[in-house]
Amino acid sequence: MASKLVPFARQATRSLSRAAKQHQPLRFERPLSTTSHRRSEALNVHRDTPYNNPSIPFSFNEQNKKIIEEILKRYPPQYKKAAVMPILDLGQRQHGFTSISVMNEVARILEMPPMRVYEVATFYTMYNRDPVGKFFVQVCTTTPCVLGGCGSDKIMNTCREFLGIDHGQMTEDGVFSLLEVECLGACVNAPMIQINDDYYEDLTPETLKQLLQALKDSATVTGFDKSKIPRPGPQKYEGVQRMTCEPRPGRTSLLEEPYSTQHNRTDGEL
Ligand code: FES
Repeated sequence: MASKLVPFARQATRSLSRAAKQHQPLRFERPLSTTSHRRSEALNVHRDTPYNNPSIPFSFNEQNKKIIEEILKRYPPQYKKAAVMPILDLGQRQHGFTSISVMNEVARILEMPPMRVYEVATFYTMYNRDPVGKFFVQVCTTTPCVLGGCGSDKIMNTCREFLGIDHGQMTEDGVFSLLEVECLGACVNAPMIQINDDYYEDLTPETLKQLLQALKDSATVTGFDKSKIPRPGPQKYEGVQRMTCEPRPGRTSLLEEPYSTQHNRTDGEL
C-alpha cells in the first residue's frame, strides 16, 4: 500500500518545492469586491448649511401642538421620550424635512438630550435630513422588485429618463426627488414605487410615465386635482386591474365577508 503512495508523495513534494521557489507575496490585480462602491446619499453627521443650521427658528404650529398633546397622552409622563418618532415625523411634515432645528425642538419638547434625537433621525431613512421635492419618488430595487413584472431596472430607468435626474437628486424646479430604496413591503405587487405616502404597484414603464406626467401637470399646469392623478395601489397590468394583493385572475378563496367584527371596506380597497 505504502509503495503505491510513493509516486503521489513525490509529486506532491515536487509541487510544494516549486511553489516555495516561486513564492511571491499575494497580490490582487483587482479588489475582491467587484461591485461598485455605493455610499449612502445622506451623511450621518450634520453640516451647517444656509438652509439647515441651528440658528433657523422652528416651532410647531397650533394644529400640530394639539396633535403632540394627543400623542404624549399615549405614554406615561416619565417615558415621553418614547414619542420621539411620531413627533419627528410631524416636524418633518410641517417643515418639509427633518432639519437640525426640528430635531432640537423635538428634544426640547421631550426633554431629551438632542444627541438622542439625532441618533433616531440619522438611523431611520424615512427622516429626510435634506429638502426633498414636492413629490418624493422612492423606487424599490430589492430582489423581488428586480424580478417581478417588468423589473425595477426598467422602472428606475424610466424615472431617470422622464425626470432627468438620478438617484439622490431633485429636479431644478423642486417638483420631484428620486431615490432608490430597499424593500417597501409590497413585494407581491412588484415592481412598485412610493410617492410621498402612497404606493403605486404592478408598474410598467407606460403606467409609470402616465403617473409622473399627471403629477407633473398637477404641480405646473392644471393645479393639484386628485381626480387626474392615478389611484394609488396596483395599476392596470396587461389589462388586469387587481385589488390590493389578490391573485391577478381574482380571488379563489376567502370569498365571504369575514366573520366577527372584521369587515371589508365598502370602497373595495381592503
Ligand atoms: S422587494 Fe420591492 S417591495 Fe419588497
